[in-house]
Amino acid sequence: GEIPAFSNFPPADFTIQAEREAYPEAIAQWRTKLNAQYPLFINGQEVTTDDTLDSYNPADPSEIIGTICQAGKPEIDDALTGAKAAYLDWRDVSPKKRAQYLLDAADWCKKNIHKISALQVLEVGKQWDQAQADVAEAIDFLEYYAREMIRLGEPKRMGVAPGEDSRYFYQGKGIAAVIAPWNFPFAISVGMVSAAIVAGCPVIYKPSGLSSVVGWMLTEMFRAADLPAGVFNYTPGRGSVIGDYIVEHPDVSLIAFTGSMEVGLRIQQKAAVVQPGQEQCKKVIAEMGGKNAVIIDDDADLDEAVLGVLYSAFGFQGQKCSACSRAIVLDSIYDRFIHRLREAAQSIKLGPSEDPSNYMGPVVDKAAAKNVLRYAKIAAEEGNIVVQREADDKYKINDACYVPLTIVDGITPEHRIAQEEVFGPVLAVMKAKDMDEALAWANSTRFALTGAIYSRSPKHLERASREFRVGNLYLNKPSVGALVERHAFGGFKMSGVGSKSGGPDYLLQFMDPRLVCENT
Ligand code: SER
Repeated sequence: GEIPAFSNFPPADFTIQAEREAYPEAIAQWRTKLNAQYPLFINGQEVTTDDTLDSYNPADPSEIIGTICQAGKPEIDDALTGAKAAYLDWRDVSPKKRAQYLLDAADWCKKNIHKISALQVLEVGKQWDQAQADVAEAIDFLEYYAREMIRLGEPKRMGVAPGEDSRYFYQGKGIAAVIAPWNFPFAISVGMVSAAIVAGCPVIYKPSGLSSVVGWMLTEMFRAADLPAGVFNYTPGRGSVIGDYIVEHPDVSLIAFTGSMEVGLRIQQKAAVVQPGQEQCKKVIAEMGGKNAVIIDDDADLDEAVLGVLYSAFGFQGQKCSACSRAIVLDSIYDRFIHRLREAAQSIKLGPSEDPSNYMGPVVDKAAAKNVLRYAKIAAEEGNIVVQREADDKYKINDACYVPLTIVDGITPEHRIAQEEVFGPVLAVMKAKDMDEALAWANSTRFALTGAIYSRSPKHLERASREFRVGNLYLNKPSVGALVERHAFGGFKMSGVGSKSGGPDYLLQFMDPRLVCENT
């Protein structure tokens, strides 16, 4: 039948009792499955390996969410053999039919939204609302890319020359390797994987080792949707063992990656070298880091601005490529803003994400905690600590991954804390003398992902639209929380190569255009 127009899946409404009760129930359900072992999923079969990796709860590392089999090179070879065989049929399945698999997958997500959200609370320390938003975004990707493929799947008649019929259409590029991050463990995985699949590319999917049980949910989802064998393969594994091997493999046509700048640049470099037996140029789509700024104009609504900066900087512990890590505040409003920011930051509750009254929880693992502590120290050396708050000692059990919420001021563009991505709850505040300086500073990093400005001046908003050069700029809104289609997401400069996810150009990256012209 007719597919209705796309609309975003609604956010959670915790005023509804059933919605509130669903989370503790679903979390308790997962606690009955602690220490479970998860296999690989290759060419339609579950495969176990001797090598396994534990995934733990960052709020209590003694709690093992799952023990995940780890693919080595032989398992990657098997997955690629299956994907290669599947490609020949899959690329010729009609776009409409491929889209239908995504719509069926979206239905499965809607039915399992509490299960997938609750798992994120335990595996990566997401707050309830943030976890729900992640699954909602995954549903949106499935629904949106399904419709996009139907739109692009219609061959286009080219030109009007008499005596010829010229048709322009697309075909999936080949096997796609998807290398996914842990911070939006379901949404970003589903986004990259579903785009590849609907475009006609079989996938080998490597989730982050820190969120591989959430990654396993994609296997359950595509099984429920009855996707043909070999089109989706779940191959978690150690980056040090299979990372380069996947990228360099001659049978991989495309790599879709979201993660750090360092890894993204390495992938581009490795993918550029042609290997023996390789028959196509590899395409790399890489979404990398940010060092995002929020500008506070001297006439900004400070209630809104303070809430927006706090949410952008400390939501999910600042572990978003879109997070605000620099607040650039105009001189004449500086003292008022910093006073309000400090007061508000003092009232934030820190503790396990499982308790919905806590605003900020632990960071994702022990290595992340160590890295954030290193930057908190750099911040203290470079500027003046305005706020530094720790979670209560009672929460620091079994090496739990809490780090202090840190706000530092006295920062200028030459400081490391103004240039390097921390990926944690550290906010640098910078005092700019006027809008010229604020915009120059906002643009003064090698990243260009998101940004925001709080201002009541139409002239300044209009000027920022032109001169604040980032992929996603928000006027009087937080720098985080992009919605599929409405806020098609992605940056440029060192923030990435590739077109916006959840936007109208995204699927084109997974396909080669073909033209057939008939002399009639
Ligand atoms: N899309 C997310 C956001 O906008 C970041 O990946 O916050």
